[in-house]
Amino acid sequence: MKLGIVGATGAVGQEMIRCLDDLGIKIDELRLGTSHRSAGKTMNTPYGYINTVEVTDAFFDGLDYALFSAGGDISKQFIPIATSQGVRVIDNSSAFRYHDDIPLVVPQVNAADIGDAMLVANPNCTTAIAAVALYPIYQKYGLKKIIMSTYQAASWAGAKGMHELLDNTKRYLDNTDPVVENFKYNLAFNLIPHIDAFQENDYTKEEMKVTWETWKIFHDPKIKISCTAVRIPTLRAHSESIVLETEKVVDVEDIREILRQSPGVMLRDDVAQGIYPMPANATGKYDVEVGRIRKSLVFGDNGVELFVSGDQLLRGAALNAVEILQYMIKN
Ligand SMILES: NC(=O)c1ccc[n+]([C@@H]2O[C@H](COP(=O)([O-])OP(=O)(O)OC[C@H]3O[C@@H](n4cnc5c(N)ncnc54)[C@H](OP(=O)(O)O)[C@@H]3O)[C@@H](O)[C@H]2O)c1
Repeated sequence: MKLGIVGATGAVGQEMIRCLDDLGIKIDELRLGTSHRSAGKTMNTPYGYINTVEVTDAFFDGLDYALFSAGGDISKQFIPIATSQGVRVIDNSSAFRYHDDIPLVVPQVNAADIGDAMLVANPNCTTAIAAVALYPIYQKYGLKKIIMSTYQAASWAGAKGMHELLDNTKRYLDNTDPVVENFKYNLAFNLIPHIDAFQENDYTKEEMKVTWETWKIFHDPKIKISCTAVRIPTLRAHSESIVLETEKVVDVEDIREILRQSPGVMLRDDVAQGIYPMPANATGKYDVEVGRIRKSLVFGDNGVELFVSGDQLLRGAALNAVEILQYMIKN
């Protein structure tokens, strides 16, 4: 099995290497692709010390699979080259997510969509985290409306986003001016209700991705979905406050039981003991934490509210991609 990672030195790429090993993926040759900036660097991986190489057309020669995690432009440039050489690709960028003939997959929800596709798209991190928690509820109770507010970490902007938050936190404490490059404003001791570009309807693209991608993954564009996405000064793991209107009358205890048994979910819901999801707990974990489950004061018998925290570099990116790969290999 010959596998290439495009963007291997990035925040997501490094987690991919860890997930490949954790999920027991056997690899005969692992090629680590970067830009010319990091090419030639030696990475210590569970598959041995490997020198990174610059991604060019030749990078894909003889590969069976490639995981892309280097942004949309690189995906647009190199994925057609890879697939034309018979390499099956899983792409982390949004470049191909909305093409009707390209599956967009969260394995716990719609692994069957993968089929024999040469290219499978990985969803936006916020959507993937929510989908794992919401799909079991959707299956039993149906969903009419999803209203979501997100609390998203600096690492959404990759390793450089985390460095900027740490650096500007120090600068704030030292009483010096922040240096802002990866976010619209200084994020340290602040929050920013603006992620990605504003659209004509005044939602941001990040917010619309939750709507578009949940429809595609659940195969149900009838669900009404509204999201407000907010960047907060945490390093890693996104959280989501989610209000649901269901088709059927909800039984909150039954929802807890369903989520307790759902793959990819960890129930953390014991408010008397102070147990609920938090990004600090979700960081580095494969499962999405779900808690604060309660009947909704707004939607009454047909409503439930919950809080979710999930590591967006794992469930929202690397883990999801490697689970798709695992499914492809097995099937
Ligand atoms: N961060 C998240 O939470 C998150 C979640 C879901 C999806 N994603 C998606 O995953 C992708 C990567 O995100 P990230 O956070 O890992 O970014 P990152 O930390 O900035 O890493 C970017 C990676 O891409 C490589 N790269 C850049 N330009 C390249 C080029 N011209 N040719 C080949 N490789 C190149 C970089 O290599 P160098 O070391 O040479 O610069 C690095 O390995 C993006 O598409 C992002 O939207 C990110």
